Amino acid sequence: MRTVRDIRVFENIPILVRAALNVPVENGKVINDYRLRRAAPTIRFLAERGAKVILISHIGEMGTETLSPVAEALGKLIPGVSFFGETIGERARAAVRALSPGNVLVLENLRRDKGEKTNDRVFAKELAALADVFVEDSFDTCHRRHASIVGVPELLPSYAGLLLEEEVRELSQAMKPKHPALAVIGGAKFSTKEAVLTALLGTYSHVFVGGALADDFLKASGQEVGKSLVGDGGDSIKKLLANPKLVLPVDSLVIPASAVGTLGARASARIAPQGQVRPDEVILDHGPGTSALLANLAQRSKAILWNGPLGNYENGFVDATDALARAIAASGAHSVVGGGDTIAAIEDLGLLPRFSFVSTGGGAMLDFLAQGTLPGIEVLDNKPSA
Ligand code: 3PG
Repeated sequence: MRTVRDIRVFENIPILVRAALNVPVENGKVINDYRLRRAAPTIRFLAERGAKVILISHIGEMGTETLSPVAEALGKLIPGVSFFGETIGERARAAVRALSPGNVLVLENLRRDKGEKTNDRVFAKELAALADVFVEDSFDTCHRRHASIVGVPELLPSYAGLLLEEEVRELSQAMKPKHPALAVIGGAKFSTKEAVLTALLGTYSHVFVGGALADDFLKASGQEVGKSLVGDGGDSIKKLLANPKLVLPVDSLVIPASAVGTLGARASARIAPQGQVRPDEVILDHGPGTSALLANLAQRSKAILWNGPLGNYENGFVDATDALARAIAASGAHSVVGGGDTIAAIEDLGLLPRFSFVSTGGGAMLDFLAQGTLPGIEVLDNKPSA
């Protein structure tokens, strides 16, 4: 893969960087700058060599949010950062022309323009007109066929940034783990996890399925899951269930369906051994037996990969997720983790530095593990620069 290290001339060259600036903002302030700290090395690399660095990114799903507070937070990590409240057009091009070499300009949220998600050719051309060179460093969106991901690199000489390079190296290695190796996939939606589960079952010694995803598997194996939300995995789940490497939770934390969303929800919780969930109950987390099983597997593993929380994390059912974070940190295994909620959970415990590699991708990490590449990586130039 051709990277920023292969760019020959930097001084005064406008370089367009697709960065991962999609960070949480509350009341106009960035509340977690983890992704910005991971984006910083590529930006510094280009700025220190005298390039005019133009950053483009999305923030939020709908295109309604602004990157203005993100530019402010980035300015605390890197000198010379300014913000311009438009993304394309003559005024944006003028702002780029006015940029001094070594300085950084953050443009407005790409998703404000409908052309971003539809990979509109005209929008991609407008973005490409801002610069002479394109750098892809937003690994977290490389699974999306959006204009800034797959459109622009077709129009400009393109290079991978340092974060993208690291993600590709680490996650490629994670698919050749030292054994015994444990993979843990949580979260929800079987349809988005089937490919990665299949790939991991081919490579890892044990693949634990957790979170709401586990309910689909428990149901398919004929167990009562009460009123827990389940998707339909049909025959594909049955095929995976037959694999002896697949590991499922052995107990669940359940509450009566009538207590969901009430103040007394937690107080009404009980631990149900596998198969003993009642028809009027909802599974919200795994129980202590499952945490013990995972801790034991983690302790025996040389490599551990984890994506997706184990319980209903956003509503405070965090015990199994926290227990797994602690078990992995204590294991001494090579550990690779990713996914927004998973990282937030580990960060809350102060354990992030104990993990060997933290991927900035959620869905992108899963797709990369399943396919070994992503649309936004495939499209980059890989020939040496002229
Ligand atoms: C993420 O936060 O996972 C990435 O930035 C992708 O965001 P998206 O799911 O809105 O495309």
